[in-house]
Amino acid sequence: MSSDWVLRDQKRVWHGFTQMSTFAELAPIMVERAEGPYLIDVNGKRYLDAISSLWVTTIGHNNGEINDAIATQLSKVAHSTLLGNSNTAIVELSEALAEIVPVNDPHFLYASDGAAAVEQALKIAFQYWTNLGNFQKTKFLTLSHAYHGDTVGSLSLGDGGFGTDIFNPLRFNSIKTPGYNVDNWLYRAILELEANYNVLAALVIEPLVQGASGMYIAMPEQVKELVKVAQSLGVTVIADEVATGFGRTGKMFASDLCGINPDIMCLGKGLTGGYLPMSVTVVSNRIYDAFLGPDRSEKTFYHGHSFSGNPLCAAAAKKHLEILQRDSIIEKVKERQHHLSVELDKKIKCLPLVKDIRQAGLMVGIEIKSSDDPGHRGRVVCMNAVQNGVLLRPLGDVIVLMPHLNFSKANLTKTVDVLERSINQLL
Ligand SMILES: Cc1ncc(COP(=O)(O)O)c(C=O)c1O
Repeated sequence: MSSDWVLRDQKRVWHGFTQMSTFAELAPIMVERAEGPYLIDVNGKRYLDAISSLWVTTIGHNNGEINDAIATQLSKVAHSTLLGNSNTAIVELSEALAEIVPVNDPHFLYASDGAAAVEQALKIAFQYWTNLGNFQKTKFLTLSHAYHGDTVGSLSLGDGGFGTDIFNPLRFNSIKTPGYNVDNWLYRAILELEANYNVLAALVIEPLVQGASGMYIAMPEQVKELVKVAQSLGVTVIADEVATGFGRTGKMFASDLCGINPDIMCLGKGLTGGYLPMSVTVVSNRIYDAFLGPDRSEKTFYHGHSFSGNPLCAAAAKKHLEILQRDSIIEKVKERQHHLSVELDKKIKCLPLVKDIRQAGLMVGIEIKSSDDPGHRGRVVCMNAVQNGVLLRPLGDVIVLMPHLNFSKANLTKTVDVLERSINQLL
């Protein structure tokens, strides 16, 4: 039955980051429904979702309370525009977010995907300076190994790789400095800041963890120092917390862990608990105030998306926040993170094919030694894991573990056991 669906899919659906000519051969899971930590396919087979459906799901699938919040909102209004108008759900969500984001007197501009939040951030950072009459600050300082999304603007801030180099002619130039995998990255970044601060619209970072490049991790004090230097030189700091936000690193935001107050922050993925597509660009009052002026003046931010501030997404996000806080979910991440780390130390670190394990909270990258065909082993390990009932997806030869924040210890252990078996199957 699954193969039927796969063939129908292959005939009409185009999957991102997927070579469609081999899609069916690679035994994709055809999901029909989900329950808590499990995705369930059309044959009723259950898979532990150990990548949180590409890092979005925070407290499990099919959560009754979030379902009810969406249904209640649905009975009122599904969508109404935020351009020049508003809805009560988005006001309530913004008030709730304002209590927790580490941005001074925050204001919220909503979109649907992480890349769009980053795109908004870079345009805001640019226009902020022109609104102040400074037309020199047009460049961005970004880190090697960064990933900020796939729209042309966010792609320009990110590094290459993963087949995206083909778009290089479309990218605008940003000033690059080494990423967290290079020992003296902080020193080099500070040199770039000092050399270029007068032309920099912003410094763009993934605080603490460069996720998509393979989970490279900085020390919180290093991130704090970088942000301190940038802000003292008058460089706006954009913290892209699309991946690290909402508890992933053991705090609500990685910025909290690093002790920073970014000027602009991008959130997405876990914002709605991973239920509905919503992202947001958060700006401090200093940035926001620079956009105030007469009606229809050029100080206005002429940017917006049709589904910005969708009330269904807002209702899901607000309920999700309530659950995180009420059930102290993030406070419990530490325990789970420790359990996972002990299991990985015991069962994975010693395997001859494992090169490195990098972990921050419940974000883990396990680097497999590459063969002559880089990326092949990562792919095979994850296919083995799927056959063994755990959904994993690699970044090249780095296997990502990104369990829901409330995975039970038994499910964390099962994930590691399956990973061990799946790596050993390579031999
Ligand atoms: C740090 C970071 N920024 C932006 C994005 C892009 O988010 P989206 O896939 O929702 O566009 C991602 C996605 O993985 C990410 O990890």
